[in-house]
Amino acid sequence: MAKRIFGFFLLAITTFTVLLGCCSATVHKVGDSDGWAPKEDDNWTDREEFHVGDSLVFEYDRNFNDVTQVSGGLEYEFCDSSFPKAVYNTGHDVVTLKEPGSYYFITSNHTQCTSGQRLDVLVTHDPSSPIPPPSPSKILPSGNIYKVGDSKRWSVYDSEFYYQWSKEKQFHVGDSLLFEYNNEVNDVFEISGDLEFLYCDPISPVAVHKTGHDLIKLTEPGIHYFISSEPGHCEAGLKLQVVVGPTPNVPKLSPLERLTRWLNSFTFNHH
Ligand SMILES: *[C@@H]1O[C@H](CO)[C@@H](O)[C@H](O)[C@H]1NC(C)=O
Ligand SMILES: *[C@@H]1O[C@H](CO)[C@@H](O)[C@H](O)[C@H]1NC(C)=O
Repeated sequence: MAKRIFGFFLLAITTFTVLLGCCSATVHKVGDSDGWAPKEDDNWTDREEFHVGDSLVFEYDRNFNDVTQVSGGLEYEFCDSSFPKAVYNTGHDVVTLKEPGSYYFITSNHTQCTSGQRLDVLVTHDPSSPIPPPSPSKILPSGNIYKVGDSKRWSVYDSEFYYQWSKEKQFHVGDSLLFEYNNEVNDVFEISGDLEFLYCDPISPVAVHKTGHDLIKLTEPGIHYFISSEPGHCEAGLKLQVVVGPTPNVPKLSPLERLTRWLNSFTFNHH
């Protein structure tokens, strides 16, 4: 019995090492030397294979284009950028493909998109490497959902309101923010820094939400910033900053400690 357990232990350690050592990710430059540009009957995607962990690099002139990720084939087909999943616009964007599935990218410059500046890629797990462990966001405990602004929702133009609202709360990784608003007059841009927050600068958002009913999961500890991109709204107070702490009450065990603990429980149960 003890021998079998030890055998399993060794196997588990080996698998763990293989997981750490695996997964060489590929960086794909979209359109090769032409960059992110219109293409008729492009077969760039046919020549490449896309695996989880790979990245796409988009290079283009940010004065005329951006990279808008949309959620479906219909939006892709009709070059409809009105409900983006994410918008990138630095002119040199690196997008990591974190999950298997179909990804659709268009430019919000409609003329350019209809003349072929769009990209759909199918992302699969690399068959030559083991299935990676689930991403942390999948195994997070489901936390609390906070409705931003409570009954006032995402619509108050008072520089203190959302500051007061968030100040009294303790947010943790795994919690979610629910933004409710009229999506004809507002949106939610997640931005990355306190300077952009201070100056209400929506130029380089981390993520864009526009459904009017957006549930945003807080997957990373740190400070998160949300503003409205509508002219004047953020300046008038439609901006929210939340401080997210690590997940509460989850003992921090290393994989080895977890394995040892699990093995111990196994031995005792069978006495
Ligand atoms: C597609 O790729 C092949 C080579 O794999 C090339 O011969 C052909 O011209 C390409 N078609 C277009 C429309 O670019
Ligand atoms: C779309 O792209 C074309 C060609 O690059 C450019 O002339 C035009 O100004 C762009 N339109 C917008 C709205 O940026």
